[in-house]
Amino acid sequence: MADKGRFPHYMIKEIFDQPQGLRDTIQPRVSLEQGIVKLDEVRISPEELRDLRRISIVASGTSRHAGMAGQYMIQELTNIPVDVDYASEFEYRNPLIGRGELTIVITQSGETADTTAAQREARAKGSRTIAISNVVDSTIAREADGVIYTNAGPEISIASTKAFTAQMAVLFLFALYLGQVREKLSKEQVRRYIRELLDLPGRVETVLQSAPECERLGDKYHTVEDFLFLGRAIHYPIAMDGALKLKEVSYIHAEGYPTGETKHGPNALIDESLPVVIIATCDRNDPGSVLRYEKNLANIKGFKEQSGRVIATNDFYSRSSGAAFAHSRDRAAAAVRVLHDSAKRAGRGSPAQPGKVGNVGVGPPSWVSDLLHPIKTAEVPRRLRI
Ligand code: BG6
Repeated sequence: MADKGRFPHYMIKEIFDQPQGLRDTIQPRVSLEQGIVKLDEVRISPEELRDLRRISIVASGTSRHAGMAGQYMIQELTNIPVDVDYASEFEYRNPLIGRGELTIVITQSGETADTTAAQREARAKGSRTIAISNVVDSTIAREADGVIYTNAGPEISIASTKAFTAQMAVLFLFALYLGQVREKLSKEQVRRYIRELLDLPGRVETVLQSAPECERLGDKYHTVEDFLFLGRAIHYPIAMDGALKLKEVSYIHAEGYPTGETKHGPNALIDESLPVVIIATCDRNDPGSVLRYEKNLANIKGFKEQSGRVIATNDFYSRSSGAAFAHSRDRAAAAVRVLHDSAKRAGRGSPAQPGKVGNVGVGPPSWVSDLLHPIKTAEVPRRLRI
């Protein structure tokens, strides 16, 4: 039986339940000592998983956004091509799927009508199915070949929060499991990811410490009628979900966009009346993350020049100094310099120029560190020069 406990309503309780939901979803399925992910509940033989040609992910709303994040994870860790569909659109595009393929159906409730119909369509075409469900013995869970439960506990609030983060944890575990079965990942690599996953609940606890700052921003911005949420790479589906949350919870219009797309249209709308929420974290040990961060900084600078109001998630936030971005920019620039020097030493030319945009092409696009990085949310001070 669900209980609000010390919280005034279920939504805030469930937001704060996330670390526990992640712990309960991750811990029983990993062995750090052995360097393996255990997913017996998949109920599809390792031989079949080794021969998979393609994966489709089908879901609705927030669950589909988790699926979009899962697409990055599975493709990166297994090299299997992954499509993501809206469950409500699945049958209309006559999906060309069949034997030798897998359809992953993601759902908190396990009862969403469009998602159930899509799952039946996939089965009818001969695809194997795996459900990721938060509700044990739901219709979708019962009809799937295999089911991986998110152990997030009952989710009462209409805004899916702890189920969403648990869905992404399951997708990461499944990507690791597939990578392991298909021998794409060494034990040491799997162990490294497991370590990161086990750290995740603690990192979410750190993120939740930003609650008072989020509340302050809510007080300040509650009269605004439109918002733009932006993110690059795996942060793009997260931005999409940020926009969905604002719509569902506040009845405020919000759009989620890939940050790089703002120049192809939405830029024309950015001014005082359209605040931008941008995910702009940086892992200085990851060249891909540093390059994306440099681009994000250039975007933020452009928005500010248009009198845009910018709220950003960032990982070096320090309210007391008020210099979150200046500080992180220095650290990112230092990281780019290290890359630049090592590339020069290796005779590969310049990978990136600190402070310049568009100079990409070094190393694989990496997002894993983006996903696992602790972040804070803050308003970018208008007077801050970046
Ligand atoms: C919608 C809800 O109706 O259903 C969304 O408003 C939810 O919040 C979506 O993400 C999908 O639900 P489920 O249970 O299939 O994940």
